[in-house]
Amino acid sequence: MSVPDRTTVAIVGSGPAGLLLSHLLVRQGIDSVVLESRPRERVESRQRAGILEHGTVDVLREIGADARMDTQGMPHDGFAFHAHGEEIRVDMAALTGRGVMIWAQTEVVRDLIALRLEQGGPLLFSAEVSAVEKVDGPLGDDGQAVVRYTHDGVEHELHADVVVGCDGFHGVTRRAIPGESVRTFERVYPYSWLGILADAPPSSEELVYARHDRGFALLSMRSPSVTRAYLQVPNDTDPSSWSHEAIWDELEARTALADGSFTLSRGPITDVSVTPMRSYVAEPMRSGRVFLAGDAAHIVPPTGAKGLNLAVADVQVLAEALASWRGTGSQELLDAYSDTALARVWRAEHFSWTMTTMLHRVPDGDPFDDRLARSHLRQVASSQAYRTAIAENYRGLPL
Ligand code: FAD
Ligand code: PHB
Repeated sequence: MSVPDRTTVAIVGSGPAGLLLSHLLVRQGIDSVVLESRPRERVESRQRAGILEHGTVDVLREIGADARMDTQGMPHDGFAFHAHGEEIRVDMAALTGRGVMIWAQTEVVRDLIALRLEQGGPLLFSAEVSAVEKVDGPLGDDGQAVVRYTHDGVEHELHADVVVGCDGFHGVTRRAIPGESVRTFERVYPYSWLGILADAPPSSEELVYARHDRGFALLSMRSPSVTRAYLQVPNDTDPSSWSHEAIWDELEARTALADGSFTLSRGPITDVSVTPMRSYVAEPMRSGRVFLAGDAAHIVPPTGAKGLNLAVADVQVLAEALASWRGTGSQELLDAYSDTALARVWRAEHFSWTMTTMLHRVPDGDPFDDRLARSHLRQVASSQAYRTAIAENYRGLPL
């Protein structure tokens, strides 16, 4: 693939944020180059998110990445909490008029990559960005930022009016912003998630978020024959320290209902991994010619299913702002990007923190926190207003 050495928008990273941004820019007639450090197969196989908010579904439809999603994705109208053996159903469709879609991030990314390559890119894999320079300065004719990257052992420079860091939490772009102009906010939780994929049909039609004295568990799915599930485990857990039988036994214990009406379906486990839980925000999400989007700027614990959806919302706001700048010369929307995106980010941070602290239990943790979480769940069970607030946040707020 031939990659120019100048472009309007250099996009670092081809996760959901970077790929979707490149598609939205094509529709606005704005040229971009996407640089991705990993090989294509690696990017397409990383097991991650599963829940798409309705707004995310809508934008994937708009850019034509909907054919497989509409035939193989699984629309869900609600989900259940199993709170110490009692079921509480949150009927999102009845409470808010909209539901969510189960369609794996791996599939979203696969479709976005295939479409982009069909259009001719430029989207370059195995191209690791080592530095972003000339960050400060005005946009437009008065200078460009420089992105340095290595591909096939050769170092290259890409000059761009704007650089968008879509390179995830461990990326390089955030570090290119002068430290004194960024403020960070962080919370690290005293537990991680052990996640599995299994050739087992889902145990119920809807997702189950369980809180038990033994800790949190989540039952999700990838298809009518594949279960995705998670268990709260201590930080630094070695995934190989859990036998497959022990994983199923623990999922069964934590998701059981007191009346014995819930049955867990088991099957061969094909993948096991451990993910730490973190909340993180870097403010502002822009410095000069560099903008941040998605996990590069913020992380939420996965309990609220918000990370991928936030990444999608960021780039929708940014694409519109870039289009306005190129179309009219006005930088007003670009200047507002960080504040506009952060308002949604902080809503999702709060929702994800709430779901996380309500549903996890620290074995030797503060009994006060345990009592608060139980009280919170009782309120969810008894109050439709509480369930509506949860449903609104879960299915996604309007842009
Ligand atoms: P990423 O997907 O991390 O993509 C960043 C890309 O940048 C990567 O491809 C990386 O290789 C590349 N890159 C990094 N450094 C460089 C460099 N120097 N040069 C070039 N490229 C670079 N979210 C939800 O919305 N719903 C869910 O149900 C959900 N469940 C989750 C479950 C788990 C177990 C985990 C771990 C996450 C979950 N998330 C969920 C979060 C979601 O996966 C992320 O928020 C999402 O991937 C963010 O997309 P992104 O494009 O910002 O970053
Ligand atoms: C998933 O299916 O991977 C998933 C679903 C819901 C979450 C997190 C992950 O909250």
